[in-house]
Amino acid sequence: MIRRIEHLGIAVQDIQASNALFEKLLNTAPYKMEVVEREGVMTSFFQLGESKVELLQATHPDSPIAKYLEKNKQGIHHIALDVDDIYAEMARLEKEGFVLLSNEPKPGADGKIIVFLHPKSTNGVLIELCQDTKN
Ligand code: CO
Repeated sequence: MIRRIEHLGIAVQDIQASNALFEKLLNTAPYKMEVVEREGVMTSFFQLGESKVELLQATHPDSPIAKYLEKNKQGIHHIALDVDDIYAEMARLEKEGFVLLSNEPKPGADGKIIVFLHPKSTNGVLIELCQDTKN
Protein backbone atom coordinates (compact mmCIF):
# COMPACT_ATOMS: atom_id res chain seq x y z
CA MET A 1 0.00 0.00 0.00
CA ILE A 2 1.19 3.53 -0.79
CA ARG A 3 0.64 5.51 2.40
CA ARG A 4 1.83 9.09 1.89
CA ILE A 5 4.43 11.35 0.34
CA GLU A 6 7.47 10.52 2.47
CA HIS A 7 9.69 13.27 1.08
CA LEU A 8 10.46 15.56 -1.82
CA GLY A 9 14.00 15.22 -3.15
CA ILE A 10 15.61 18.48 -4.29
CA ALA A 11 18.85 18.50 -6.29
CA VAL A 12 21.25 21.26 -5.20
CA GLN A 13 24.71 22.43 -6.22
CA ASP A 14 25.89 23.40 -2.73
CA ILE A 15 24.27 21.57 0.17
CA GLN A 16 25.72 23.86 2.87
CA ALA A 17 24.33 26.99 1.19
CA SER A 18 21.04 25.18 0.52
CA ASN A 19 20.81 23.99 4.14
CA ALA A 20 21.00 27.62 5.27
CA LEU A 21 18.39 28.66 2.70
CA PHE A 22 15.94 25.85 3.57
CA GLU A 23 16.49 26.36 7.29
CA LYS A 24 15.26 29.93 6.84
CA LEU A 25 12.45 28.91 4.50
CA LEU A 26 11.09 26.05 6.62
CA ASN A 27 12.03 27.59 9.97
CA THR A 28 13.63 24.34 11.12
CA ALA A 29 17.17 22.98 10.99
CA PRO A 30 18.06 19.80 9.10
CA TYR A 31 17.80 16.86 11.53
CA LYS A 32 20.46 14.82 9.79
CA MET A 33 23.04 14.76 7.01
CA GLU A 34 24.09 11.47 5.45
CA VAL A 35 26.32 10.36 2.59
CA VAL A 36 24.97 7.49 0.48
CA GLU A 37 28.19 6.50 -1.24
CA ARG A 38 26.75 3.96 -3.67
CA GLU A 39 24.34 6.62 -4.96
CA GLY A 40 27.04 9.29 -5.01
CA VAL A 41 25.03 11.71 -2.89
CA MET A 42 25.30 13.82 0.23
CA THR A 43 21.83 14.29 1.69
CA SER A 44 20.23 16.44 4.35
CA PHE A 45 16.75 16.04 5.77
CA PHE A 46 14.20 18.49 7.12
CA GLN A 47 11.13 17.20 8.97
CA LEU A 48 7.82 18.84 8.05
CA GLY A 49 5.03 17.19 9.99
CA GLU A 50 4.59 13.73 8.46
CA SER A 51 6.72 14.54 5.40
CA LYS A 52 10.29 15.61 4.76
CA VAL A 53 12.41 17.59 2.37
CA GLU A 54 15.61 15.85 1.22
CA LEU A 55 18.39 17.94 -0.31
CA LEU A 56 20.82 16.06 -2.57
CA GLN A 57 24.27 17.14 -3.64
CA ALA A 58 26.56 15.03 -5.84
CA THR A 59 29.71 13.64 -4.19
CA HIS A 60 31.47 12.93 -7.50
CA PRO A 61 31.10 13.85 -11.19
CA ASP A 62 29.55 10.47 -12.14
CA SER A 63 26.81 10.77 -9.53
CA PRO A 64 23.23 10.67 -10.88
CA ILE A 65 22.74 14.08 -9.26
CA ALA A 66 25.78 15.52 -11.09
CA LYS A 67 24.36 14.15 -14.37
CA TYR A 68 20.95 15.58 -13.53
CA LEU A 69 22.40 19.03 -12.85
CA GLU A 70 24.28 18.98 -16.17
CA LYS A 71 20.90 18.89 -17.93
CA ASN A 72 18.60 20.63 -15.45
CA LYS A 73 18.57 23.53 -13.04
CA GLN A 74 18.50 22.93 -9.31
CA GLY A 75 14.99 21.95 -8.18
CA ILE A 76 12.64 19.08 -7.48
CA HIS A 77 14.36 15.85 -8.49
CA HIS A 78 12.04 13.14 -7.18
CA ILE A 79 8.93 12.39 -5.14
CA ALA A 80 9.28 9.60 -2.59
CA LEU A 81 6.26 7.51 -1.62
CA ASP A 82 6.17 5.63 1.66
CA VAL A 83 5.06 2.03 1.19
CA ASP A 84 4.40 -0.68 3.76
CA ASP A 85 5.59 -3.55 1.50
CA ILE A 86 8.05 -2.50 -1.20
CA TYR A 87 8.13 -5.93 -2.89
CA ALA A 88 4.33 -6.01 -3.17
CA GLU A 89 4.27 -2.47 -4.65
CA MET A 90 7.10 -3.29 -7.08
CA ALA A 91 5.15 -6.33 -8.32
CA ARG A 92 1.90 -4.35 -8.58
CA LEU A 93 3.48 -1.44 -10.46
CA GLU A 94 5.42 -3.68 -12.82
CA LYS A 95 2.19 -5.50 -13.66
CA GLU A 96 0.64 -2.09 -14.41
CA GLY A 97 3.41 -1.41 -16.93
CA PHE A 98 5.69 0.89 -14.92
CA VAL A 99 9.43 0.48 -15.40
CA LEU A 100 11.54 -0.13 -12.30
CA LEU A 101 15.15 1.08 -12.31
CA SER A 102 16.33 -1.94 -10.32
CA ASN A 103 14.99 -5.43 -9.70
CA GLU A 104 15.81 -5.34 -6.02
CA PRO A 105 15.39 -2.54 -3.46
CA LYS A 106 18.66 -0.83 -2.48
CA PRO A 107 19.69 0.74 0.82
CA GLY A 108 18.88 4.48 0.75
CA ALA A 109 19.39 7.33 3.18
CA ASP A 110 17.57 7.57 6.51
CA GLY A 111 17.17 3.83 7.20
CA LYS A 112 15.12 3.05 4.08
CA ILE A 113 15.17 0.52 1.32
CA ILE A 114 14.31 2.19 -1.96
CA VAL A 115 13.60 1.64 -5.63
CA PHE A 116 13.04 4.21 -8.39
CA LEU A 117 10.54 4.11 -11.26
CA HIS A 118 11.79 5.25 -14.65
CA PRO A 119 10.41 8.73 -15.43
CA LYS A 120 9.55 7.65 -18.99
CA SER A 121 6.74 5.55 -17.51
CA THR A 122 5.53 8.21 -15.03
CA ASN A 123 4.91 11.37 -17.10
CA GLY A 124 8.47 12.52 -16.51
CA VAL A 125 8.31 12.39 -12.70
CA LEU A 126 11.05 10.39 -11.00
CA ILE A 127 9.27 8.37 -8.30
CA GLU A 128 11.05 6.69 -5.39
CA LEU A 129 9.32 3.98 -3.40
CA CYS A 130 10.70 3.72 0.11
CA GLN A 131 10.07 1.43 3.03
CA ASP A 132 11.28 2.13 6.52
CA THR A 133 13.50 -0.64 7.88
CA LYS A 134 13.76 0.83 11.38
CA ASN A 135 10.45 -0.51 12.66
CO1 CO B 1 14.82 10.38 -1.79
